[in-house]
Amino acid sequence: MFGDPLKSICEDPLERKWIWISLFLAFFMAGMLGFYALAGNIHPPSNVETIDSSRLHLSEEFAEDKLGVTTNADGSLTVTLVAARYGFYPPVIEVPADTPVTFRIASADVLHGVHVPFTNMTTMIVPGYISEVRTSFPRTGEFSLLCNEYCGLGHDSMWSRLVVVPKSAGGASS
Ligand code: CUA
Repeated sequence: MFGDPLKSICEDPLERKWIWISLFLAFFMAGMLGFYALAGNIHPPSNVETIDSSRLHLSEEFAEDKLGVTTNADGSLTVTLVAARYGFYPPVIEVPADTPVTFRIASADVLHGVHVPFTNMTTMIVPGYISEVRTSFPRTGEFSLLCNEYCGLGHDSMWSRLVVVPKSAGGASS
Protein backbone atom coordinates (compact mmCIF):
# COMPACT_ATOMS: atom_id res chain seq x y z
CA MET A 1 0.00 0.00 0.00
CA PHE A 2 1.30 3.48 -0.80
CA GLY A 3 1.85 6.04 1.93
CA ASP A 4 -1.26 5.69 4.09
CA PRO A 5 -1.69 8.88 6.18
CA LEU A 6 -3.50 6.84 8.85
CA LYS A 7 -0.41 4.68 9.42
CA SER A 8 1.00 7.02 12.05
CA ILE A 9 -2.12 6.69 14.25
CA CYS A 10 -3.13 3.11 13.56
CA GLU A 11 -1.00 -0.03 13.21
CA ASP A 12 -3.60 -2.57 12.13
CA PRO A 13 -4.21 -2.60 8.32
CA LEU A 14 -7.73 -4.05 8.73
CA GLU A 15 -8.66 -1.28 11.14
CA ARG A 16 -7.26 1.34 8.75
CA LYS A 17 -9.34 -0.15 5.94
CA TRP A 18 -12.53 0.27 7.97
CA ILE A 19 -11.60 3.83 8.92
CA TRP A 20 -11.24 4.63 5.19
CA ILE A 21 -14.60 3.01 4.44
CA SER A 22 -16.38 4.97 7.15
CA LEU A 23 -14.74 8.24 6.04
CA PHE A 24 -15.78 7.53 2.46
CA LEU A 25 -19.38 6.87 3.55
CA ALA A 26 -19.55 10.08 5.60
CA PHE A 27 -18.31 12.22 2.70
CA PHE A 28 -20.44 10.34 0.18
CA MET A 29 -23.62 10.95 2.21
CA ALA A 30 -22.78 14.62 2.83
CA GLY A 31 -22.19 14.98 -0.90
CA MET A 32 -25.55 13.36 -1.70
CA LEU A 33 -27.33 15.80 0.66
CA GLY A 34 -25.68 18.75 -1.03
CA PHE A 35 -26.42 17.38 -4.48
CA TYR A 36 -30.11 16.80 -3.83
CA ALA A 37 -30.53 20.18 -2.12
CA LEU A 38 -29.09 21.90 -5.20
CA ALA A 39 -30.70 19.64 -7.81
CA GLY A 40 -34.14 19.90 -6.17
CA ASN A 41 -33.79 23.66 -5.60
CA ILE A 42 -34.59 23.21 -1.91
CA HIS A 43 -34.85 26.48 -0.02
CA PRO A 44 -36.09 27.70 3.36
CA PRO A 45 -39.90 28.04 3.64
CA SER A 46 -39.80 31.65 4.75
CA ASN A 47 -39.93 33.04 1.20
CA VAL A 48 -37.37 35.51 2.60
CA GLU A 49 -40.08 38.12 3.13
CA THR A 50 -39.86 39.72 6.53
CA ILE A 51 -42.56 41.23 8.70
CA ASP A 52 -42.72 42.74 12.19
CA SER A 53 -44.53 40.02 14.16
CA SER A 54 -45.45 42.37 16.99
CA ARG A 55 -47.30 44.72 14.62
CA LEU A 56 -49.27 42.24 12.49
CA HIS A 57 -52.57 43.84 13.55
CA LEU A 58 -51.37 47.10 11.99
CA SER A 59 -49.99 45.61 8.79
CA GLU A 60 -51.57 45.96 5.35
CA GLU A 61 -51.87 42.24 4.80
CA PHE A 62 -52.29 40.58 8.21
CA ALA A 63 -54.71 42.92 9.99
CA GLU A 64 -57.69 41.01 11.40
CA ASP A 65 -60.17 42.16 8.74
CA LYS A 66 -57.80 41.18 5.89
CA LEU A 67 -57.43 37.53 6.91
CA GLY A 68 -59.10 34.66 5.08
CA VAL A 69 -59.64 33.63 1.48
CA THR A 70 -59.33 36.10 -1.40
CA THR A 71 -60.05 35.27 -5.04
CA ASN A 72 -57.49 36.68 -7.46
CA ALA A 73 -58.20 37.96 -10.96
CA ASP A 74 -56.94 34.70 -12.56
CA GLY A 75 -59.27 32.54 -10.44
CA SER A 76 -56.58 31.37 -8.05
CA LEU A 77 -56.96 31.91 -4.32
CA THR A 78 -54.83 33.54 -1.68
CA VAL A 79 -55.33 32.42 1.90
CA THR A 80 -53.96 34.83 4.47
CA LEU A 81 -53.51 33.34 7.94
CA VAL A 82 -52.10 34.36 11.27
CA ALA A 83 -50.68 31.66 13.52
CA ALA A 84 -50.69 32.61 17.17
CA ARG A 85 -50.70 30.71 20.43
CA TYR A 86 -52.88 28.67 20.17
CA GLY A 87 -54.68 28.69 16.86
CA PHE A 88 -54.76 29.66 13.21
CA TYR A 89 -56.90 32.64 12.34
CA PRO A 90 -59.46 32.59 10.80
CA PRO A 91 -60.32 29.21 12.38
CA VAL A 92 -62.26 27.86 9.38
CA ILE A 93 -61.15 28.19 5.77
CA GLU A 94 -63.15 27.01 2.80
CA VAL A 95 -61.56 26.50 -0.62
CA PRO A 96 -62.74 24.76 -3.80
CA ALA A 97 -60.96 21.61 -4.96
CA ASP A 98 -58.48 21.63 -7.87
CA THR A 99 -57.84 25.36 -7.60
CA PRO A 100 -54.38 26.90 -7.13
CA VAL A 101 -54.11 28.18 -3.56
CA THR A 102 -51.33 30.35 -2.20
CA PHE A 103 -51.08 30.35 1.57
CA ARG A 104 -49.44 33.38 3.17
CA ILE A 105 -48.94 32.89 6.87
CA ALA A 106 -47.34 34.97 9.58
CA SER A 107 -46.75 34.18 13.24
CA ALA A 108 -47.84 36.70 15.85
CA ASP A 109 -45.56 35.27 18.52
CA VAL A 110 -43.30 32.19 18.45
CA LEU A 111 -42.27 29.48 16.01
CA HIS A 112 -45.22 27.45 14.73
CA GLY A 113 -45.66 24.93 11.98
CA VAL A 114 -48.61 23.98 9.88
CA HIS A 115 -49.48 20.63 8.44
CA VAL A 116 -52.64 19.43 6.72
CA PRO A 117 -52.68 15.62 6.93
CA PHE A 118 -53.36 13.72 3.68
CA THR A 119 -52.21 16.71 1.60
CA ASN A 120 -48.81 18.14 0.69
CA MET A 121 -49.50 21.36 2.60
CA THR A 122 -46.87 21.84 5.28
CA THR A 123 -44.44 24.55 6.31
CA MET A 124 -42.75 26.20 9.25
CA ILE A 125 -43.97 29.61 10.39
CA VAL A 126 -41.02 31.54 11.69
CA PRO A 127 -41.73 34.78 13.58
CA GLY A 128 -40.52 37.75 11.56
CA TYR A 129 -41.01 36.02 8.20
CA ILE A 130 -43.94 35.40 5.89
CA SER A 131 -44.30 31.72 4.98
CA GLU A 132 -45.67 31.10 1.52
CA VAL A 133 -46.92 27.75 0.20
CA ARG A 134 -48.51 27.16 -3.19
CA THR A 135 -50.63 24.06 -3.60
CA SER A 136 -54.05 22.82 -4.60
CA PHE A 137 -56.33 20.26 -3.01
CA PRO A 138 -57.55 17.46 -5.28
CA ARG A 139 -59.75 15.80 -2.63
CA THR A 140 -62.84 17.33 -1.11
CA GLY A 141 -63.61 17.00 2.58
CA GLU A 142 -62.78 18.44 5.97
CA PHE A 143 -59.14 18.56 6.91
CA SER A 144 -57.36 19.69 10.05
CA LEU A 145 -54.71 22.37 9.98
CA LEU A 146 -52.34 21.25 12.72
CA CYS A 147 -49.44 22.99 14.37
CA ASN A 148 -46.42 20.70 14.14
CA GLU A 149 -43.78 22.74 15.94
CA TYR A 150 -43.84 22.74 19.73
CA CYS A 151 -44.95 26.26 20.68
CA GLY A 152 -46.01 26.02 24.32
CA LEU A 153 -48.42 24.29 26.67
CA GLY A 154 -51.36 24.69 24.27
CA HIS A 155 -49.50 23.24 21.29
CA ASP A 156 -51.64 20.07 21.36
CA SER A 157 -54.82 22.05 20.88
CA MET A 158 -53.49 24.37 18.17
CA TRP A 159 -55.45 23.41 15.11
CA SER A 160 -58.15 24.72 12.84
CA ARG A 161 -60.26 23.52 9.97
CA LEU A 162 -59.80 23.46 6.20
CA VAL A 163 -62.89 22.59 4.19
CA VAL A 164 -62.36 21.62 0.56
CA VAL A 165 -65.64 21.86 -1.34
CA PRO A 166 -66.36 20.61 -4.87
CA LYS A 167 -65.14 23.06 -7.48
CA SER A 168 -68.63 23.53 -8.92
CA ALA A 169 -69.87 24.75 -5.52
CA GLY A 170 -67.72 27.82 -5.93
CA GLY A 171 -66.21 27.84 -2.45
CA ALA A 172 -64.05 30.84 -1.65
CA SER A 173 -65.92 32.26 1.29
CA SER A 174 -63.77 34.23 3.64
CU1 CUA B 1 -48.21 26.34 17.39
CU2 CUA B 1 -47.40 24.25 18.18
